[in-house]
Amino acid sequence: MIIDGHGLPKMPNGESPIGYWQSPGRVNLIGEFTDYNLGFVLPFAIDRRVYVGVQIIDEPLVRVTSREENESISISYSDLQSGVDNSWASYVFGTIWAFRSHGIKVPGLELSLHSSIPIGAGLSSSAAIEAAVATALNDITESDLGLAQLAKLCHSAESDYVGAPVGIMDQMAVLNGQSQKAMFMDCRENSVQYVPFNANELLIVDTRLRHSNNDGNYARNRQLCERAADQLGITSLRDANLSMVEETLRGDLRRVARHVVTENLRVIESVDRLSNARSIGDLLVDSHRSLQKDFMVTCPELDCIVEVAITYGAEGARMFGAGLGGCALVLGGDHERIASHITAEFQYRGYQPPHAFAVTSTFGAGAL
Ligand code: GLA
Repeated sequence: MIIDGHGLPKMPNGESPIGYWQSPGRVNLIGEFTDYNLGFVLPFAIDRRVYVGVQIIDEPLVRVTSREENESISISYSDLQSGVDNSWASYVFGTIWAFRSHGIKVPGLELSLHSSIPIGAGLSSSAAIEAAVATALNDITESDLGLAQLAKLCHSAESDYVGAPVGIMDQMAVLNGQSQKAMFMDCRENSVQYVPFNANELLIVDTRLRHSNNDGNYARNRQLCERAADQLGITSLRDANLSMVEETLRGDLRRVARHVVTENLRVIESVDRLSNARSIGDLLVDSHRSLQKDFMVTCPELDCIVEVAITYGAEGARMFGAGLGGCALVLGGDHERIASHITAEFQYRGYQPPHAFAVTSTFGAGAL
């Protein structure tokens, strides 16, 4: 296996770890803000990874060192409570907290972390930290938890410990990845079906604008969705259809619900087309427009990437992840030509320079 960046993270005491674990990040092909509405998503795991080296120590605490942050932070297990910590290390601490809350005895740990996933870019850098640590804990404690159970513990780390009210997509995606496949997930059943998919056709463009899933906006939109479902008399928007939405809802509730309902249909149509080797370009563009006009989580930079990509020959393009910055994906066309037009347009509009890169679809988290 090729290790990206500067190789595996060294342990602070210079000795060998008992092992290394890793997790990829993810790109979501289509299906945005549908996971917490118990609908459908279609992500794939990418070849950017978090690596964690592990040593067992005698004290009842965890100490974690990050190469990227150039910092070590520790917390004793007696102080490990939800919501007490807000640093980069909280994804590590939250995962240990979730295991302990699940009744699993976790030994004292020295962890060393290295990540080649840009932080806050919408590529699930936080879910990757959780999944790398969770697969390590699963092996070390011989808990034998399955991937769906691990995803739930990682999700609990992020939503209950860190306090970001996210859905389950990212944690499921980074744990279940397979090469040359996208994952069709039913977020009510927590099930995964693999769909043939070649990520070489994609270009990822990072706006370099950063967002956080616990900045309030994500939670507000989630609440709107929950209120919409409530007014429709259903438990989640998964069970809504377009005529119910148009007839019963008004204003903000109508627009967010319309996005969720139409996006679920686009995911199902995408799975059908990919299974028959047909392009999903127009569905990607429809998804972006819906996120722009109805869910209202795009930004001028993301809209610009999509417009320029289509103008210069892409089959389709859309933002992915939580939006308001982060990345867009571009399907088909001449990637070099499209990237240079996007860069030129960004410069013309006075935006900071974007970063374009390729990804491949890859395997999920586990021991190296
Ligand atoms: C973030 C969250 C996911 C999902 C997406 C939007 O990535 O972590 O759970 O809701 O936003 O689709």
